[in-house]
Amino acid sequence: MQRPKIIMHNTISIDSSIKNFECDIGLHYQVAGRYQADAHLIGSMTAKTGLEMYSGNIPPEKKSDFLKKDYEKGDKKPFWIIVDSKGILKGIMHMYRRFEYCKDVIVLLSKNSPADYIEYLKERNYEYIISGESNIDFPIALEELYSRYHIRKILTDTGSILNSILLEKKLINEISLIVAPYITGEKSEYLFRSLRNNKSISLELNRVEVLEKNYVLIRYNVLY
Ligand SMILES: NC(=O)c1ccc[n+]([C@@H]2O[C@H](COP(=O)([O-])OP(=O)(O)OC[C@H]3O[C@@H](n4cnc5c(N)ncnc54)[C@H](OP(=O)(O)O)[C@@H]3O)[C@@H](O)[C@H]2O)c1
Repeated sequence: MQRPKIIMHNTISIDSSIKNFECDIGLHYQVAGRYQADAHLIGSMTAKTGLEMYSGNIPPEKKSDFLKKDYEKGDKKPFWIIVDSKGILKGIMHMYRRFEYCKDVIVLLSKNSPADYIEYLKERNYEYIISGESNIDFPIALEELYSRYHIRKILTDTGSILNSILLEKKLINEISLIVAPYITGEKSEYLFRSLRNNKSISLELNRVEVLEKNYVLIRYNVLY
């Protein structure tokens, strides 16, 4: 079975932290946009904290939030794929559907996802894929994203837990890092904080580019 290519894209401090420094979100998404991915993949914690950091108060749902997004065939906007087997985004998912640069939302669920969350998603006509027992089975979910939604390239700009899982399962093809001019020290949250690997993973340098404001972009192909 075939799966989409995955590019992992993060902005990190020079000591490899993904948080506790001032991330230039404009630059982050400017570079992300270059990859022209068919979908953006994020974990539930990244989705939730992203709204807390950048969206302020969550407005109540409107009638239009219950409808699938209207898009033409060939629309280049990415889908937003959100990993949320526990239903953490119940009540706030409409914020993602409302994003201008979101074709629509696809939620990844497991067989143990709460029934009331599945009902919430169904009532609002969200697309979802069920895989795995209690956690998402990513190889299976990715095969379905490839065949059912014709997704060929995914950009994931998520946190260290999901990055680690995808890398452990050898699903990340390319790593794109924007190195920001900060040192976070003991407040660091390491980019791959939960990665369990028996041997180091080899990378092949693909590109280095000096960006504005003392930021640097480094891209690697993952060789496994
Ligand atoms: N600097 C950057 O570029 C950048 C980018 C994105 C995020 N961040 C920061 O990263 C932080 C959040 O990172 P995080 O790592 O806590 O959250 P995360 O990226 O949302 O990762 C958690 C996700 O991993 C899934 N997961 C956990 N264990 C799993 C398993 N065994 N099998 C399958 N899936 C599993 C969870 O699935 P379920 O939901 O199904 O449980 C959840 O969706 C935030 O502070 C955010 O601001 C930084």
